[in-house]
This record gives sequence, structure tokens and C-alpha cells, in this order.
Amino acid sequence: MRHPIARALARPLILAAVAAAIPLASAAPVAADSIVVGGFPVDVSKAPWTVALSSRDRFGGTRAGQFCGGVAVAPTTVLTAAHCMGEDVLGAPPEQVSDFRVIAGRTDLLSDQGAEIAIREVWVNPGYDPQSNAGDFAVLTLAEPLPQDAVIAMSAAGDPAYEPGTRATVYGWGDVTGGGDYVRRLRAAYVHVMSDARCGEAYPGGGDGTFLADSMLCAGEERGGRDACQGDSGGPLVARGKLVGLVSWGSGCGRAGQPGVYTRVSEVMRTLDWDGRNAADGRHGTA
Ligand code: ARG
Repeated sequence: MRHPIARALARPLILAAVAAAIPLASAAPVAADSIVVGGFPVDVSKAPWTVALSSRDRFGGTRAGQFCGGVAVAPTTVLTAAHCMGEDVLGAPPEQVSDFRVIAGRTDLLSDQGAEIAIREVWVNPGYDPQSNAGDFAVLTLAEPLPQDAVIAMSAAGDPAYEPGTRATVYGWGDVTGGGDYVRRLRAAYVHVMSDARCGEAYPGGGDGTFLADSMLCAGEERGGRDACQGDSGGPLVARGKLVGLVSWGSGCGRAGQPGVYTRVSEVMRTLDWDGRNAADGRHGTA
């Protein structure tokens, strides 16, 4: 059986082909109670640090080239998933994607709201392991700063936001059904942080993937129904007003007993040697 990460990574390319063939597909109405699977529409002003990663060259213009999510943690610093920068997704190294941009402040991908900002530097976590998906994060340095009020603080290790049962919200423009129904307008879904023990049971290794508590965090609902999905990767999971996770992987979307797996943001902070001081101007230790 193929690893679920490999399946997940294949999806954005399929999307590009489908979206190009059926221009109206992305504008099709979605059921009011479905997300980012099981979610609801949200205006980007409520989550201004949520950004879309875009390349019209690679993914076509029907959804403004959106292929992953990201999150602004300083005016010129956006976090995303390392796997979003992989050749499996982009078809080329990121520096060869000449129209690679971050779209900020835009709810509807096809509107001209907000800004499209060029990327000055892409730094992929050297500790990222594409086999296990451990350490799934990358840092994008923007060519122009975002407003300071469009950034979110990261949640450090030991913060109560990581406690199992904490309500969290995930944001994205990804698939709302698990069947390739990528949306035009930003959506959000409420989920709950799960214990590492529960997540280890869900993903003990083998076909459905392995949960590695050091660098990953699970969130979802015991009964399923609410989750991130393909196209949401790299986007934010927020709890108690702070960033706790980046959408990374899962087995299917919204299935009972198969929660979403997120990059653990406290581990991102540790790797980047990030503290409150460098958060203000976007400098980080290792990039
Ligand atoms: N890997 C996917 C992406 O590239 C994200 C999958 C998240 N899946 C989940 N069930 N939470 O967009």
C-alpha cells in the first residue's frame, strides 16, 4: 500500500489538471456544513495570518494558483509545510517557480482583495524526513512586509494550548469532501487537540503512517467529520489564540479514529531558536 503522505502529495497535481479542464469546478457550491471537511466559511479578517501559497504557472489560474496554506508569524516570515516545497508538489525546486507568491488578506481567491507578495527566500527544515513526514515545516521570507497585526504568536512547549481536549481551529482553502472539491473562499473547522497516546493508537505505523510525538500533534474529533484535507497543508491550527500546528498529513479526511496530523509548532520554535524578540522583526536563528 502506498504511504498516505505519498497519496496526499499526489493530489495537488491532480487538482491542477481537473481545475484546468473544468474551470467552474472550484466555484461549485459546497454544502454549508462541509470544510476544510466539516467546517464553515470565514472571512480572512478573522484570521489575517492565514495565507495562501500560489503559483498560477504550476497550478493554473482558476483558483489563483493556490496549492497550500501558510501562516505569518512575523511581518516577513511565513511558515508552511516542508512537503509543500517538494518536487512532488511543485514539479520543480521552489526557486525555479518564478511566480511563487504568498496571497495575504484575501478571503475569495478570485477577488483582488489583499496582496500578492513575492518570496525572497525559501528555507526548508533540513531535519524534514519525507518518509515519516517528521519536521514538516519550511520558512518563507517575504519580499515585502505584512502589517504587524497580520501575524500570530507561536505557542511554546508547555503552553496549555497543547493540552488534550483544547478546542482548536484549522483554516484553509483545501478540499471540503475528500473528493477533490477545492474551494474558492477561506474556510475554518473546529477540532480538538488529541493526546499523544490516542494519536499513537490511530497511527501506530504501517499503511496509515506513524505518529511521532516529538514533531507532530494530532487534532480532530473522535467521531470524525471535522478535519483539514488536501490543499490545506502548511496552514494554521490555532488554539487559545496562538499557533500550535501546521496542517501536515492524515489518512483520508475527517474519518473517525483518523485525526489530522499537524507539525508541532513548539518544535518549529525550538529548531528555529525562536523567541519573543526575533518574532518582532522576522529574524530567526537558522535561516
Ligand atoms: N497533505 C495534505 C496537503 O498537502 C494535507 C492533508 C491533511 N489531512 C488531514 N486529514 N488532516 O494538503
